[in-house]
Amino acid sequence: MSAWLRRRALVCAHLFFALVLLSPAQGSAQPFDVPYVPTPQVVVDEMLRLANVGPDDFVIDLGCGDGRIPVTAAAYFGARALGIDIDPGRIAESHANAKAAGVTGRVEFRQGNLFDLDISKASVVTMYLLPDINEKLRPRLFQMLRPGTRVVSHDFSMGEWQPDRVHSVQKRMYYWVIPAQVGGRWKLDADLPGVGARSYELEVRQKFQQIEPFARTEKRNFAVWEPRLNGKSISFIIVDNDLAHRYEGTVEGKIMQGVVRTGAGTAETQTPFRAVWVGSL
Ligand SMILES: C[S@@+](CC[C@H](N)C(=O)[O-])C[C@H]1O[C@@H](n2cnc3c(N)ncnc32)[C@H](O)[C@@H]1O
Repeated sequence: MSAWLRRRALVCAHLFFALVLLSPAQGSAQPFDVPYVPTPQVVVDEMLRLANVGPDDFVIDLGCGDGRIPVTAAAYFGARALGIDIDPGRIAESHANAKAAGVTGRVEFRQGNLFDLDISKASVVTMYLLPDINEKLRPRLFQMLRPGTRVVSHDFSMGEWQPDRVHSVQKRMYYWVIPAQVGGRWKLDADLPGVGARSYELEVRQKFQQIEPFARTEKRNFAVWEPRLNGKSISFIIVDNDLAHRYEGTVEGKIMQGVVRTGAGTAETQTPFRAVWVGSL
């Protein structure tokens, strides 16, 4: 077993035994899904840095403990923040910590179950939960969060949803960006240098942020190279008439638009492209 797997097994065991042993002692009427184990401050700082938190962000910490993540987001990253915890004692600590840090105007704490919280206004969601709770939470993240919302989890991943980044400073942190929904058939139009007016049917298969597009015209098929989806940002390359056309755009609902870059270096040209979602596969 690798050192990392050993460490991960130890962390899981630690949290599991803490859950079994500590939860009844808390005396809460509501069940705890996860015991209280605070994130070290160094890791809190790294989680917020990893998500590139800034003054325009609204950070929600699910299971906020003593409120250290929301308080740090407000005090040192200028964000607004909200923490929810099932344990009223932790919420009292969170209020006291926000007051001590002078950020009561920018943070809010609520006592309640994280699975009941409306998280749709978050631009960043943080968590230090458990692997099975993360997996249970995943459909809610996809239902409620806008494309482009960043998600950071301390120590635990999210099942088959591969992270966009893994970051390790003392502990392991997982980072994802909620992807736009792009799966289906698109009609893509562009007026390409060296080709002329083109109308492709673009078929996109999607699993989380992984996409596999394929393009065709009435006469022939085209491989689509280097496809990437990052929140609402999409890019891919189609080689047509021996030229690489690099598409870079954004997806808003059923419209994808942006620019096509053709040619290299000083010879590069840019033309607009637009695609409309026409149906599912
Ligand atoms: C591992 S601690 C993490 C605390 C804090 N986020 C941090 O990183 O320091 C998990 C927290 O989740 C809370 N919790 C457990 N189940 C919950 C639930 N269903 N809804 C809301 N909070 C919950 C616990 O009371 C605990 O404070």
